[in-house]
Amino acid sequence: MKVTIVGAGNVGSTCADAIAFKRIASEVVLLDIKEDFAEGKALDMTQTASLLGFNTKIVGSTNNYSKTAGSDVVVVTSGIPRKPGMTREELIGVNAGIVKTVTSNILEHSPNAVIVIVSNPMDTMTYLTLKESGLPKNRIIGMGGALDSARFRTYLSLALDKPSNDIHGMVIGGHGDTTMIPMTRLASYNGIKFNDLLEEKVLEKVAADTMVGGKTLTGMLGTSAWYAPGAAVAFLVDSILNDQKRIIPCSVYLEGEYGQKDICIGVPVVIGRNGWENVIDLKLNEKEQDLFAKSADAVRNMNSALESI
Ligand code: NAI
Ligand code: 2OP
Repeated sequence: MKVTIVGAGNVGSTCADAIAFKRIASEVVLLDIKEDFAEGKALDMTQTASLLGFNTKIVGSTNNYSKTAGSDVVVVTSGIPRKPGMTREELIGVNAGIVKTVTSNILEHSPNAVIVIVSNPMDTMTYLTLKESGLPKNRIIGMGGALDSARFRTYLSLALDKPSNDIHGMVIGGHGDTTMIPMTRLASYNGIKFNDLLEEKVLEKVAADTMVGGKTLTGMLGTSAWYAPGAAVAFLVDSILNDQKRIIPCSVYLEGEYGQKDICIGVPVVIGRNGWENVIDLKLNEKEQDLFAKSADAVRNMNSALESI
């Protein structure tokens, strides 16, 4: 099983490290445009193999896509974060250009790959990739909900003082501070609903902390986070390559599900060897449906910036 990760920066390299360490794939190719950067990361990681006990082959490449040939999964983390003074449209313009070029290079060498989009604004970049590639919708997956749900589970775990492994919680909607929807009503600890365990005020704070989870870390680190994002991608890639059929909230193309059409946005999907298989209906209540519709409006508004590119 071969995985290519485009962009050997913080998220890309952390993801490669997690995939190798957890022995999810036999080969990982890291590709970047910066001369020798991906090769350096790959060599450094390879030197951990005898210490950590894995034998995944890790290859670095400076923009040479022939090394990525025959990948089963390609993860796209290439892109820039928004810089001071830059408008959202400008950011979308730069990242859309990168994502378009990368997608066409990927497909030339790995026509059967499942593509995982990480670059921000992720829901819009996922939509763009789907439209540009012409691939079946099931092979294009945006990663955001896996990360946001991990953050939700962390804050629930801290509030309850129980291990996050025993806690289930899901975040749906757009991957943005104001667009994501932590599904507090369905969150549980070993089958016990959180609504029966913690006060409403505490749960409201957990949801609010989750929603600004990325922003909080960007403020602390001076750039966006990478450990949990990299691990969240590896978790998704594991479910694809090993056909685990996990239910993971991902940004996928909707054609009427959750009342939405012609949009990529986070909903729970079954993830297996062919990408996402089907959308799970969480049977949202009226308030949640309203939040989801507002989230979709915001994502659609973001997508409209693609028209001027
Ligand atoms: P980074 O700046 O550390 O890495 C990005 C890398 O992409 C750089 O090494 C750069 O040289 C490379 N790159 C740029 N253009 C390229 C091209 N055309 N081909 C190949 N490589 C290229 O950034 P970081 O922290 O790794 O974040 C990457 C992206 O992921 C950003 O857009 C960020 O906002 C997004 N992100 C998304 C998350 C999600 O949950 N969807 C979570 C965290 C980050
Ligand atoms: C995050 O949620 C910024 O998308 C990035 O950490």
